[in-house]
Amino acid sequence: MTIFLTGASGLVGSAFACAAARRGHRVIGVVGTHQGELEGVAQLLRLDLASEPATTTAVLDVFPQAIVNCAAVSLPEACDADPVHAQALNVTLPATLARLAHHVSARFIHLSSEQVFAGDRNVRYGRESPQSPVNLYGRQKAESERAVHAAAPRCAVTLRPPLLTGNSVSGRRSLHERLMLDWMEGRSPRLFTDEMRQPCSAENLAEAMLELCERDDVCGIHHWAGAELVSRHQLGVAVRERFKLTEGEAPIIATTRADVPAVARRRPESLALDLAPLAGRLKTRPESLAEQLAALTVPPACRAWYHRRLSRPSPR
Ligand SMILES: NC(=O)c1ccc[n+]([C@@H]2O[C@H](COP(=O)([O-])OP(=O)(O)OC[C@H]3O[C@@H](n4cnc5c(N)ncnc54)[C@H](OP(=O)(O)O)[C@@H]3O)[C@@H](O)[C@H]2O)c1
Repeated sequence: MTIFLTGASGLVGSAFACAAARRGHRVIGVVGTHQGELEGVAQLLRLDLASEPATTTAVLDVFPQAIVNCAAVSLPEACDADPVHAQALNVTLPATLARLAHHVSARFIHLSSEQVFAGDRNVRYGRESPQSPVNLYGRQKAESERAVHAAAPRCAVTLRPPLLTGNSVSGRRSLHERLMLDWMEGRSPRLFTDEMRQPCSAENLAEAMLELCERDDVCGIHHWAGAELVSRHQLGVAVRERFKLTEGEAPIIATTRADVPAVARRRPESLALDLAPLAGRLKTRPESLAEQLAALTVPPACRAWYHRRLSRPSPR
Protein backbone atom coordinates (compact mmCIF):
# COMPACT_ATOMS: atom_id res chain seq x y z
CA MET A 1 0.00 0.00 0.00
CA THR A 2 1.00 3.64 -0.34
CA ILE A 3 1.59 5.21 3.07
CA PHE A 4 1.77 8.98 3.67
CA LEU A 5 4.16 9.24 6.63
CA THR A 6 4.73 12.50 8.50
CA GLY A 7 7.75 12.87 10.79
CA ALA A 8 9.75 10.46 8.60
CA SER A 9 13.04 11.81 10.00
CA GLY A 10 12.01 11.44 13.67
CA LEU A 11 12.74 8.62 16.10
CA VAL A 12 9.50 6.74 15.40
CA GLY A 13 8.93 7.84 11.80
CA SER A 14 12.35 6.64 10.63
CA ALA A 15 11.80 3.23 12.30
CA PHE A 16 8.34 3.04 10.75
CA ALA A 17 9.65 3.80 7.23
CA CYS A 18 12.19 0.96 7.48
CA ALA A 19 9.61 -1.51 8.82
CA ALA A 20 7.02 -0.59 6.17
CA ALA A 21 9.52 -0.80 3.29
CA ARG A 22 10.67 -4.24 4.51
CA ARG A 23 7.06 -5.40 4.16
CA GLY A 24 6.84 -4.04 0.60
CA HIS A 25 4.89 -0.83 1.19
CA ARG A 26 5.60 2.42 -0.65
CA VAL A 27 6.37 5.14 1.87
CA ILE A 28 5.98 8.79 0.97
CA GLY A 29 7.85 10.45 3.82
CA VAL A 30 7.38 14.06 4.91
CA VAL A 31 10.23 15.89 6.65
CA GLY A 32 10.61 19.45 7.90
CA THR A 33 14.24 20.47 8.38
CA HIS A 34 15.92 17.12 7.76
CA GLN A 35 18.45 16.98 4.88
CA GLY A 36 19.44 13.84 3.00
CA GLU A 37 17.95 10.46 2.09
CA LEU A 38 16.08 8.28 4.55
CA GLU A 39 16.13 4.49 4.55
CA GLY A 40 12.78 2.98 3.58
CA VAL A 41 11.37 6.21 2.13
CA ALA A 42 10.51 5.87 -1.58
CA GLN A 43 9.73 9.58 -2.02
CA LEU A 44 10.72 12.40 0.30
CA LEU A 45 8.57 15.55 0.62
CA ARG A 46 9.92 18.62 2.39
CA LEU A 47 6.93 20.44 3.79
CA ASP A 48 5.94 22.73 6.65
CA LEU A 49 3.17 20.70 8.25
CA ALA A 50 2.06 23.77 10.21
CA SER A 51 0.56 24.90 6.89
CA GLU A 52 -2.87 23.31 6.54
CA PRO A 53 -3.26 24.08 2.81
CA ALA A 54 0.19 22.62 1.99
CA THR A 55 -0.59 19.48 4.00
CA THR A 56 -3.96 19.04 2.31
CA THR A 57 -2.49 19.44 -1.18
CA ALA A 58 0.27 16.92 -0.44
CA VAL A 59 -2.12 14.27 0.90
CA LEU A 60 -4.55 14.68 -1.99
CA ASP A 61 -1.69 14.45 -4.52
CA VAL A 62 -0.55 11.14 -3.00
CA PHE A 63 -4.07 9.77 -2.30
CA PRO A 64 -2.64 7.17 0.14
CA GLN A 65 -4.19 4.00 1.54
CA ALA A 66 -2.81 4.87 4.96
CA ILE A 67 -1.69 8.06 6.73
CA VAL A 68 0.72 7.69 9.64
CA ASN A 69 1.34 10.75 11.79
CA CYS A 70 4.72 10.76 13.52
CA ALA A 71 5.26 14.53 13.28
CA ALA A 72 4.96 16.57 16.43
CA VAL A 73 6.59 19.02 18.75
CA SER A 74 7.50 16.06 20.90
CA LEU A 75 9.33 17.64 23.84
CA PRO A 76 7.24 19.24 26.62
CA GLU A 77 9.78 22.09 27.01
CA ALA A 78 9.50 22.91 23.30
CA CYS A 79 5.69 23.14 23.64
CA ASP A 80 6.08 25.57 26.54
CA ALA A 81 8.58 27.63 24.55
CA ASP A 82 6.25 28.08 21.54
CA PRO A 83 2.68 27.04 22.42
CA VAL A 84 1.15 28.38 19.18
CA HIS A 85 3.51 26.43 16.93
CA ALA A 86 3.09 23.34 19.13
CA GLN A 87 -0.70 23.63 18.87
CA ALA A 88 -0.41 23.70 15.04
CA LEU A 89 1.68 20.51 14.99
CA ASN A 90 0.20 18.63 17.93
CA VAL A 91 -3.51 19.42 17.49
CA THR A 92 -4.40 21.11 14.19
CA LEU A 93 -2.22 18.77 12.08
CA PRO A 94 -3.67 15.47 13.41
CA ALA A 95 -7.20 16.88 13.09
CA THR A 96 -6.51 17.83 9.45
CA LEU A 97 -4.92 14.45 8.68
CA ALA A 98 -7.88 12.63 10.27
CA ARG A 99 -10.34 14.58 8.08
CA LEU A 100 -8.22 13.81 5.01
CA ALA A 101 -8.01 10.11 5.93
CA HIS A 102 -11.78 9.99 6.22
CA HIS A 103 -12.07 11.80 2.86
CA VAL A 104 -9.75 9.44 0.94
CA SER A 105 -10.88 6.32 2.89
CA ALA A 106 -7.39 5.70 4.28
CA ARG A 107 -6.36 4.12 7.58
CA PHE A 108 -5.06 6.76 9.99
CA ILE A 109 -2.51 6.00 12.69
CA HIS A 110 -1.84 8.84 15.12
CA LEU A 111 0.57 9.03 18.05
CA SER A 112 -0.54 10.66 21.26
CA SER A 113 1.37 10.17 24.53
CA GLU A 114 1.21 8.55 27.95
CA GLN A 115 1.47 12.13 29.25
CA VAL A 116 -2.29 12.60 28.88
CA PHE A 117 -2.29 11.08 32.40
CA ALA A 118 -1.29 12.77 35.64
CA GLY A 119 1.09 9.96 36.66
CA ASP A 120 -0.30 8.74 39.98
CA ARG A 121 2.07 6.10 41.32
CA ASN A 122 -0.83 3.93 42.57
CA VAL A 123 -2.54 3.66 39.21
CA ARG A 124 -2.05 1.39 36.21
CA TYR A 125 -3.60 3.45 33.43
CA GLY A 126 -6.06 1.76 31.11
CA ARG A 127 -7.12 3.27 27.82
CA GLU A 128 -10.34 4.54 29.41
CA SER A 129 -8.77 5.97 32.57
CA PRO A 130 -9.59 9.64 33.14
CA GLN A 131 -7.08 12.04 31.65
CA SER A 132 -5.56 14.90 33.62
CA PRO A 133 -2.35 16.07 31.97
CA VAL A 134 0.07 18.09 34.07
CA ASN A 135 1.73 19.97 31.20
CA LEU A 136 0.85 21.69 27.94
CA TYR A 137 2.23 18.83 25.83
CA GLY A 138 -0.12 16.37 27.56
CA ARG A 139 -3.07 18.77 27.18
CA GLN A 140 -2.36 19.16 23.46
CA LYS A 141 -2.11 15.39 23.01
CA ALA A 142 -5.44 14.90 24.83
CA GLU A 143 -7.03 17.53 22.55
CA SER A 144 -5.57 15.80 19.48
CA GLU A 145 -7.19 12.50 20.50
CA ARG A 146 -10.63 14.12 20.74
CA ALA A 147 -10.21 15.90 17.39
CA VAL A 148 -8.92 12.80 15.57
CA HIS A 149 -11.66 10.46 16.73
CA ALA A 150 -14.41 13.02 16.11
CA ALA A 151 -13.17 13.45 12.51
CA ALA A 152 -12.45 9.81 11.67
CA PRO A 153 -14.19 7.49 14.13
CA ARG A 154 -14.07 4.45 11.85
CA CYS A 155 -10.59 4.64 10.32
CA ALA A 156 -8.39 6.13 13.06
CA VAL A 157 -6.22 4.43 15.66
CA THR A 158 -4.40 6.49 18.24
CA LEU A 159 -1.59 4.94 20.23
CA ARG A 160 -0.29 6.39 23.47
CA PRO A 161 3.39 5.41 23.49
CA PRO A 162 5.62 5.59 26.57
CA LEU A 163 9.16 6.95 26.83
CA LEU A 164 10.88 5.55 23.74
CA THR A 165 14.27 3.94 23.34
CA GLY A 166 16.07 3.34 20.04
CA ASN A 167 18.59 4.71 17.56
CA SER A 168 17.57 7.99 15.91
CA VAL A 169 18.62 9.35 12.51
CA SER A 170 20.26 12.37 14.17
CA GLY A 171 21.94 10.24 16.86
CA ARG A 172 20.87 12.88 19.41
CA ARG A 173 17.19 12.21 20.06
CA SER A 174 16.76 9.25 22.38
CA LEU A 175 17.74 8.79 26.01
CA HIS A 176 20.83 6.61 25.48
CA GLU A 177 22.10 8.98 22.77
CA ARG A 178 21.77 12.01 25.05
CA LEU A 179 23.47 10.10 27.87
CA MET A 180 26.39 9.09 25.64
CA LEU A 181 26.81 12.69 24.47
CA ASP A 182 26.80 13.89 28.10
CA TRP A 183 29.39 11.31 29.11
CA MET A 184 31.59 12.08 26.12
CA GLU A 185 31.51 15.79 26.95
CA GLY A 186 32.22 15.20 30.64
CA ARG A 187 28.75 16.08 31.96
CA SER A 188 26.99 14.09 34.69
CA PRO A 189 23.32 13.68 33.82
CA ARG A 190 20.75 13.91 36.63
CA LEU A 191 18.15 11.14 36.49
CA PHE A 192 15.13 10.67 38.72
CA THR A 193 15.06 7.59 40.93
CA ASP A 194 11.33 8.05 41.55
CA GLU A 195 9.98 8.88 38.07
CA MET A 196 8.70 5.63 36.61
CA ARG A 197 8.22 4.81 32.94
CA GLN A 198 7.42 1.66 30.91
CA PRO A 199 9.76 2.20 27.93
CA CYS A 200 9.53 0.51 24.58
CA SER A 201 11.68 0.86 21.50
CA ALA A 202 10.70 2.99 18.52
CA GLU A 203 11.26 -0.12 16.35
CA ASN A 204 8.80 -2.21 18.38
CA LEU A 205 6.24 0.62 18.37
CA ALA A 206 6.70 0.91 14.58
CA GLU A 207 5.95 -2.81 14.17
CA ALA A 208 2.72 -2.42 16.16
CA MET A 209 1.76 0.65 14.08
CA LEU A 210 2.43 -1.22 10.86
CA GLU A 211 0.20 -4.10 11.93
CA LEU A 212 -2.52 -1.56 12.68
CA CYS A 213 -2.08 -0.04 9.19
CA GLU A 214 -2.45 -3.41 7.54
CA ARG A 215 -5.68 -4.40 9.28
CA ASP A 216 -8.94 -2.55 9.66
CA ASP A 217 -10.55 -4.27 12.63
CA VAL A 218 -8.95 -2.12 15.33
CA CYS A 219 -9.97 1.51 15.86
CA GLY A 220 -9.98 3.96 18.76
CA ILE A 221 -7.41 4.81 21.39
CA HIS A 222 -4.96 2.17 22.61
CA HIS A 223 -1.85 1.81 24.73
CA TRP A 224 1.49 0.39 23.63
CA ALA A 225 4.58 0.10 25.83
CA GLY A 226 7.35 -2.23 26.94
CA ALA A 227 7.09 -5.08 29.42
CA GLU A 228 8.69 -3.42 32.47
CA LEU A 229 8.23 -0.34 34.64
CA VAL A 230 11.59 1.25 35.53
CA SER A 231 12.83 4.56 36.90
CA ARG A 232 14.77 6.92 34.65
CA HIS A 233 17.77 6.30 36.89
CA GLN A 234 17.49 2.51 36.47
CA LEU A 235 17.29 3.05 32.72
CA GLY A 236 20.41 5.22 32.75
CA VAL A 237 22.36 2.64 34.76
CA ALA A 238 21.17 -0.10 32.40
CA VAL A 239 22.44 1.92 29.41
CA ARG A 240 25.80 2.40 31.13
CA GLU A 241 26.07 -1.35 31.72
CA ARG A 242 24.93 -2.14 28.16
CA PHE A 243 27.91 -0.18 26.82
CA LYS A 244 30.28 -1.58 29.47
CA LEU A 245 31.07 1.87 30.85
CA THR A 246 32.12 2.23 34.48
CA GLU A 247 30.57 4.46 37.13
CA GLY A 248 33.67 6.66 37.02
CA GLU A 249 33.61 7.33 33.27
CA ALA A 250 29.81 7.51 33.00
CA PRO A 251 28.59 9.23 36.16
CA ILE A 252 24.87 9.68 36.84
CA ILE A 253 23.56 11.93 39.60
CA ALA A 254 20.63 10.20 41.32
CA THR A 255 17.90 12.81 41.85
CA THR A 256 14.48 12.65 43.45
CA ARG A 257 11.41 14.63 42.50
CA ALA A 258 11.51 16.27 45.93
CA ASP A 259 14.92 17.77 45.00
CA VAL A 260 13.33 19.83 42.19
CA PRO A 261 9.63 20.35 43.03
CA ALA A 262 9.08 23.07 40.39
CA VAL A 263 10.26 20.71 37.64
CA ALA A 264 8.47 17.67 39.10
CA ARG A 265 5.08 19.44 39.12
CA ARG A 266 5.12 19.50 35.33
CA ARG A 267 6.15 15.86 34.88
CA PRO A 268 3.94 12.82 35.53
CA GLU A 269 5.46 10.77 38.36
CA SER A 270 4.63 7.21 37.35
CA LEU A 271 3.13 6.03 34.07
CA ALA A 272 2.30 2.33 34.29
CA LEU A 273 0.21 1.40 31.27
CA ASP A 274 -2.28 -1.42 30.85
CA LEU A 275 -1.92 -2.67 27.26
CA ALA A 276 -5.28 -4.48 27.13
CA PRO A 277 -6.92 -5.19 24.80
CA LEU A 278 -4.36 -4.35 22.09
CA ALA A 279 -1.53 -6.58 23.32
CA GLY A 280 -3.83 -9.58 23.00
CA ARG A 281 -4.80 -8.69 19.45
CA LEU A 282 -1.45 -7.99 17.76
CA LYS A 283 1.28 -10.36 16.62
CA THR A 284 3.87 -7.80 17.79
CA ARG A 285 4.85 -8.49 21.41
CA PRO A 286 5.78 -5.88 24.02
CA GLU A 287 9.56 -5.96 24.38
CA SER A 288 11.58 -6.55 27.53
CA LEU A 289 14.10 -3.91 28.58
CA ALA A 290 16.94 -6.38 27.85
CA GLU A 291 15.75 -6.72 24.23
CA GLN A 292 15.61 -2.94 23.86
CA LEU A 293 19.09 -2.44 25.33
CA ALA A 294 20.60 -5.09 23.05
CA ALA A 295 19.46 -3.15 19.95
CA LEU A 296 21.03 0.18 20.97
CA THR A 297 24.07 1.38 19.05
CA VAL A 298 26.70 4.00 19.83
CA PRO A 299 25.58 7.29 18.20
CA PRO A 300 27.88 8.43 15.34
CA ALA A 301 29.12 11.54 17.21
CA CYS A 302 30.34 9.37 20.11
CA ARG A 303 32.02 6.53 18.16
CA ALA A 304 35.58 7.84 18.19
CA TRP A 305 35.38 8.63 21.93
CA TYR A 306 33.81 5.26 22.67
CA HIS A 307 36.37 3.25 20.73
CA ARG A 308 39.29 5.19 22.26
CA ARG A 309 37.86 4.36 25.67
CA LEU A 310 37.46 0.68 24.78
CA SER A 311 41.07 0.41 23.60
CA ARG A 312 42.41 1.84 26.91
CA PRO A 313 43.98 -0.83 29.12
CA SER A 314 41.68 -1.62 32.04
CA PRO A 315 42.96 -0.46 35.47
CA ARG A 316 44.55 -3.23 37.60
N1 LIG B 1 10.07 10.01 21.76
C1 LIG B 1 9.32 9.65 22.80
O1 LIG B 1 9.83 9.25 23.85
C2 LIG B 1 7.81 9.74 22.70
C3 LIG B 1 7.05 9.28 23.78
C4 LIG B 1 5.65 9.31 23.69
C5 LIG B 1 5.04 9.81 22.55
N2 LIG B 1 5.80 10.28 21.53
C6 LIG B 1 5.09 10.80 20.35
O2 LIG B 1 5.42 9.99 19.24
C7 LIG B 1 5.46 10.79 18.05
C8 LIG B 1 6.82 10.64 17.38
O3 LIG B 1 7.81 11.11 18.31
P1 LIG B 1 9.37 11.16 17.93
O4 LIG B 1 10.12 11.00 19.19
O5 LIG B 1 9.64 10.25 16.78
O6 LIG B 1 9.49 12.67 17.45
P2 LIG B 1 10.81 13.42 16.94
O7 LIG B 1 11.97 12.48 16.88
O8 LIG B 1 10.93 14.67 17.74
O9 LIG B 1 10.44 13.80 15.42
C9 LIG B 1 9.50 14.80 15.15
C10 LIG B 1 9.27 14.79 13.65
O10 LIG B 1 8.33 15.84 13.34
C11 LIG B 1 8.81 16.55 12.21
N3 LIG B 1 8.34 17.94 12.24
C12 LIG B 1 8.28 18.77 13.31
N4 LIG B 1 7.80 19.97 12.93
C13 LIG B 1 7.55 19.88 11.59
C14 LIG B 1 7.03 20.79 10.62
N5 LIG B 1 6.66 22.04 10.94
N6 LIG B 1 6.90 20.36 9.34
C15 LIG B 1 7.28 19.09 8.99
N7 LIG B 1 7.75 18.19 9.87
C16 LIG B 1 7.90 18.58 11.15
C17 LIG B 1 10.32 16.48 12.33
O11 LIG B 1 10.89 16.72 11.06
P3 LIG B 1 12.35 17.41 10.86
O12 LIG B 1 13.23 16.85 11.94
O13 LIG B 1 12.73 16.97 9.47
O14 LIG B 1 12.14 18.88 10.98
C18 LIG B 1 10.51 15.04 12.80
O15 LIG B 1 10.50 14.16 11.70
C19 LIG B 1 5.13 12.21 18.49
O16 LIG B 1 3.76 12.43 18.35
C20 LIG B 1 5.49 12.20 19.96
O17 LIG B 1 4.77 13.19 20.67
C21 LIG B 1 7.17 10.23 21.56
